[in-house]
Amino acid sequence: MTPPPPTGPPPTGPEPSAGALSLRGLTVGRGGRTVARDISIEIPAGEVTALLGPNGAGKSSLVLAVGGVLRPLAGSVLMQGRDYARQRPEQIRRAGIAIVPEGRRLLTDLTVEDNLRVAAYSLPREQARTGRERVLGLFPELSRRLSAPARTLSGGEQQMVVLAQALIAEPRFLLIDELSLGLAPVVINRLLPTIRAVADAGLGVLLIEQFAAVALGLASGAYILEGGRLRFSGLASELREKPELLSSAYLLRGSGAG
Ligand SMILES: Nc1ncnc2c1ncn2[C@@H]1O[C@H](COP(=O)(O)OP(=O)(O)OP(=O)(O)O)[C@@H](O)[C@H]1O
Ligand SMILES: [Mg+2]
Repeated sequence: MTPPPPTGPPPTGPEPSAGALSLRGLTVGRGGRTVARDISIEIPAGEVTALLGPNGAGKSSLVLAVGGVLRPLAGSVLMQGRDYARQRPEQIRRAGIAIVPEGRRLLTDLTVEDNLRVAAYSLPREQARTGRERVLGLFPELSRRLSAPARTLSGGEQQMVVLAQALIAEPRFLLIDELSLGLAPVVINRLLPTIRAVADAGLGVLLIEQFAAVALGLASGAYILEGGRLRFSGLASELREKPELLSSAYLLRGSGAG
């Protein structure tokens, strides 16, 4: 089967929009092999953008490159006129670009409170305090579990702590690699409104999701990555209306859930 041709907006012109995180021609290598080539993705502030694709497509590698964990071979990561590609993870994080990498783990012997403290350690005291209050407002369930060791939490609660850690410094952009992995539908449905709420409050979110329907239900823009190449760039509504564009078996499986 031939993949559908790349279609539609979003903008690929030279001018990145001011309120967006713009990946431009990003190329990422791993183990001497190019695993993502010439990837341009627009992540607007205040919106959820979906990044879909089968196993091994290069999604996680792309996230790691944006976060500065992998050094891109080419391309740029633009935010407010500055290029963050090839900067160090700490600089990227401080600029307001947060990533939740795939398989992110908590410090399981530490309490929830201490996991939040670790995430806020580099913040000024007042910002750490307000950040803590804000994330506990987003995930009130965690307020009752603050003194519990992280290992005693349910999978959903652990994912809440992971998200709270990423959000505590009030980033402008958040890239989430596999929000729903290993979580029951009821738990996923608990998390989605919170993702919606932080985006509505101005955060630009890139959501990588195994369940296409979950991501497309929240997203405005959508991208499909396959074999290290972008196969689709456009609107999430196009993929909702024409699920046949989700051509690979992986994505067809994903589109049935949520
Ligand atoms: N640590 C690594 N060293 C070398 N190659 C790697 C490494 N991790 C992943 N790869 C390779 O990079 C390519 C892209 O993998 P990546 O994990 O980015 O894909 P993905 O889209 O996130 O897949 P999945 O849906 O399974 O999470 C794959 O061919 C994979 O085998
Ligand atoms: Mg991955």
